[in-house]
Amino acid sequence: MLARAVTHAVVGLDACRVEVEAHLQGQVPAFAIVGLADRACQEAKERVKSGIKSAECEWPQRRIIVNLAPAGLRKEGSGFDLPIALAILSASRQVPPDQVRAHAALGELALDGRVRPVRGALAVAEGARRSGLDRIVCAAESAAEVELAGVVPVPVRHLAEAVAYLRGEIAAPERHEEREPERPAAAPDLSDVRGQERGRRALEIAAAGGHNLLLAGPPGTGKTMLARRLPGILPPLMRDEIVEVTRIHSVAGLLSARCPLVTTPPFRAPHHSASMAAIVGGGPGPRPGEASLAHRGVLLLDELPEFQRPALEALRQPIEDGAISVARAAGHAIFPARFQLVGTMNLCPCGGRGDAGAECSCSPQRLAAFRDKLSRALIDRFDLVVTVPRARAHELAAPAAEASEAVRERVIAARERLREGSLARTTEASELLDRAVERLPLSTTEASELLDRAVERLPLSGRGRARVARVARTAAALAGADRVLPEHVAEALSYRSPSELRAP
Ligand SMILES: Nc1ncnc2c1ncn2[C@@H]1O[C@H](COP(=O)(O)OP(=O)(O)O)[C@@H](O)[C@H]1O
Ligand SMILES: [Mg+2]
Repeated sequence: MLARAVTHAVVGLDACRVEVEAHLQGQVPAFAIVGLADRACQEAKERVKSGIKSAECEWPQRRIIVNLAPAGLRKEGSGFDLPIALAILSASRQVPPDQVRAHAALGELALDGRVRPVRGALAVAEGARRSGLDRIVCAAESAAEVELAGVVPVPVRHLAEAVAYLRGEIAAPERHEEREPERPAAAPDLSDVRGQERGRRALEIAAAGGHNLLLAGPPGTGKTMLARRLPGILPPLMRDEIVEVTRIHSVAGLLSARCPLVTTPPFRAPHHSASMAAIVGGGPGPRPGEASLAHRGVLLLDELPEFQRPALEALRQPIEDGAISVARAAGHAIFPARFQLVGTMNLCPCGGRGDAGAECSCSPQRLAAFRDKLSRALIDRFDLVVTVPRARAHELAAPAAEASEAVRERVIAARERLREGSLARTTEASELLDRAVERLPLSTTEASELLDRAVERLPLSGRGRARVARVARTAAALAGADRVLPEHVAEALSYRSPSELRAP
């Protein structure tokens, strides 16, 4: 007797259709799983056998062969448990085969027959939809992801519940939330930061335009504090962004009953000891790294010069392309990685540089080695570089500054303006910049003179120029201007590598 169930295997962020065939032959009890199944998948044997008994179904006393087709595709993980169980129950006619074939299935089985969620449910549900299946029998915890893919979940807590549903004994189980999905812990608020007007302004521009930001300055001046407040002034994700980001976090196994979907821009702050693979992704599977987990959100590299140089260099490509291509045994997996990079750094190893109240004790060699860590190419990719000086006593004593919510409203309005395209294209800012560079006469405002002087002092690469032009456009959008004016370009230029970062 032969029967089939359908599921999907996660490959990168995609899913490939897998037919689970169960064949019952002979009278000598045996059980084998074939079809390039990994270890977790082989161990399904024990869980499926125990789960079927716990569901008060009969374990067929036959030679059972389960084939996972196509045989050339590696099958990883425990999500095949439920479809394997359903295929065996279908082959032994304990559930109607046509009902099993009309549903996709995904889930791990506990020894007592409970159905547990597995990673990648959203990608699997999207795969099911593409292969024409509009219902998935899955763990209750996976239901939100399945719904997001536009597929109807049949959320089951126990294999017995799946069996009863497929036999038509009960209606599709209701989807009831375990708990109220928890609101993400409130992000820290900007009103905590005293002084640092320039740092706050740079943060607002970065949020409005999605620009990369480097905060440099002596220790203890509030760099980390500012950086951690960026997510709190970003707009929520749009629907298609929620799908993209949730798919990545699901494949990485980061979703939970408390956080079933990602609806706000992610914030990732890997430790500086993180390996290159941890940051850009890889390994068997392969799994997305921090850069992809920060997709549509913020990647904070706190104490940038402490990171391993290969890890930093590996980020250069995704910063430009918004995606990472990870080599696998069979070809490449592409992980999106359109994140906003925020870096913080001291100006020298001892931290004394740039601090009026301290003396730098670094030897020239030590300083040179410190700067060598950060290639020009990497620094060039920060659209905004701002020095964060030690706040003065009166600044620290000042009343609380503007709260995140007010800043966020301006950011949302500016984003809207940038999206509408009512604002002149980036090329206009770029032309303005070019004219300034060539010192063609601009309108004789103070701003344009400032611009001329700034351009003269700064060696700008082609990439640097494009980045300045984009920042200028954001400054114009924040100001509510209908075109980019010299003052906006001047402000953008003022955030290019300050002299402290350059060799003395
Ligand atoms: N501008 C500031 N306003 C309020 N508190 C500050 C400010 N700068 C520093 N602090 C205090 O100092 C602590 C260390 O700041 P932090 O952001 O970690 O410094 P950095 O990253 O620049 O070394 C903060 O937790 C905060 O209590
Ligand atoms: Mg810090």
